[in-house]
Order: sequence, then C-alpha cells, then structure tokens
Amino acid sequence: MKQFTSVKDVTNVKELVQEALALKSNPYAHKALGTNRTLGVIFLNPSLRTRLSTQKAAMNLGMNVMVMNIDKEGWALETRDGVVMDGATVEHIREAARVFGQYCDVLAIRSFPGLKNRDEDYNEEIFNKFITFSGVPVVSLESATLHPLQSFADLITIEEHKKVEKPKVVLTWAPHVKPLPQSVPNTFAEWMCRAQQEGLVDFVITHPEGYELAEQFTPGARIVYNQDEAIKGAHFIYPKSWSSYHDYGKVLSKGEGWMLNLERLAITDQAKVLHCLPVRRDLELGADILDSTESLVIEEAGNRVWAAQAVLKRILESL
Ligand code: CP
Repeated sequence: MKQFTSVKDVTNVKELVQEALALKSNPYAHKALGTNRTLGVIFLNPSLRTRLSTQKAAMNLGMNVMVMNIDKEGWALETRDGVVMDGATVEHIREAARVFGQYCDVLAIRSFPGLKNRDEDYNEEIFNKFITFSGVPVVSLESATLHPLQSFADLITIEEHKKVEKPKVVLTWAPHVKPLPQSVPNTFAEWMCRAQQEGLVDFVITHPEGYELAEQFTPGARIVYNQDEAIKGAHFIYPKSWSSYHDYGKVLSKGEGWMLNLERLAITDQAKVLHCLPVRRDLELGADILDSTESLVIEEAGNRVWAAQAVLKRILESL
C-alpha cells in the first residue's frame, strides 16, 4: 500500500479486516517492521482518538513517532498557489510538506473542511498538496471529505460483533447544534458500500430530505427517508450528524424526532449502536443508549488502534 486516503486504496476489505483482527490478537508480532522508521503525525484541528490510536499503532510496529499540531505550533501556513505572501501566512505548504518528507518515512495528516466553499473542500487542496510535495506515503487521519481509518475501525467492530452472516447496517442522520462536516458519513457510506459489494453487510442510509450525501460515496446504498422504516430489523445503527452537501455546510432542520434512544431501538433486531465520538449526549444520541450494553462506541474507539496498525503495516511493507 503506497498511501491510505480512502477505501479505494484497499484491494480487499475483508482481508484487511482479518489482518487488523490478527494484529489485535498479537499486537507486537511485527515490532521489527518499523525499526528506524519515523511516522510524522500532523494535525490541523483537535483530536483524542485519532491522535492516540495512531501513535499507539506506530509504536506497536516499532516506529518512532513525531506529532505536530501545525495549526498551533507551526508557522502560519499558506496553502494557495500564486499568491504574494505579504499577509499573515509565513510558510508555504510547498516547502513545509517537502521538509516533513526530509524527516519522516510516512506522514499521517488530519485536515478539516471550511464548510464554506464546497469545491475547495471537495478538491482536498491541503491534503493533495501534502501528498504531492512530501514525497513520502501519506495516511489520512481525516480529510475535508473522508475519515477512512474511522470507517475501517467501524467495519472491524461490525465484523467482531455481528450475529448474522450479513447484518443490516444503517447510517442515520442525527441532530446537532452546529454544522458538521460530511467526512464521517461520506467515508462510512463508502466503506459500507464496498463491504456490501463484498457480501459483508446490507447497507441503508436514512436522513431528512436535503441531507443527501455526494453520490460518489454512496454507490449501491439504499436511501430511506423514514427513519423507523430504515432501522426496522437493523443489526447495527450508526447515528451521525452532518451538514447539507447540496446546500453546502447548512443545518436545514432541528431534526426533531431523529435522535435515537433505547425505546426507539425496540423495532430493530437487537441493534448495536456505533458512533465515531466525540458525541453530544441527549442531542445527537440518547445517553440511555450510550450507558447501555447496546452501545459499542468504546470498543469501536479501541479498534482505531488495529485499523491504524494494519494500514501502517501495509505501508511499511511497501517501503
Ligand atoms: N473519531 C475521531 O476521529 O475522534 P477524534 O476527533 O478525537 O480523533
């Protein structure tokens, strides 16, 4: 594997899940693989899970790790081309990315969408410039449009906890007070559509009208606007808030009735509930679910380590 920015970088999802589960059983089996290799971890926004799980995964493989919150600790970064840098920005991404490539064998980067200009966000300008200029393999720790390590961990969690061969998995929109990126739902849809193609799941998306995701991430997904109809008989539910893609970055409704609680789960087939975290209790998801055995959110966060470790292992093997 030369880079990891979406499910498109994975040839066989089923095999990668099995590899992650093998690493979970034997975390230090490949400790020699990363010896004298350095992972640079770059953040342009806050993180708990991604930051710690990626470091732990790299350390399990014997790598050295350097972490930089470049938005706070680095020089103010210019990402546009062709501008005279006579304003607040001090360092251009063209030089910064190349310099990171001098110190690191692999880079892992988290950026974020501005949610103002859809083309700018969906062109993944910052991310693609790091890939172009760093000269080393790049792992996405969440970009403006995708969060592939999260979805990989979600699929690992589903595989571990499924009670039927091909579980029904439902992605449901949830309310929030702020407009949130589409990266988690985009990537979850992309991974579940691939898992559906590989016969692993039956995938359904539900949201109020106006919250349709970009079609490029939902090939083969069934979209059902009635949440009750969508979650009926579900084995796994993934509630997540996102802002509108078509009316870009907007919150279109308060979403009354869309928050799930234990009572609402009665029509499912004893569904387990996933969430990438952080989650706002009793706004995005009922606290009664989070405090129950129906919730898998902590196990899911734990699986972020094995997702990152499987990806880093594949990249190290390709160096
Ligand atoms: N799920 C997730 O990416 O969490 P963090 O933002 O804390 O890394």
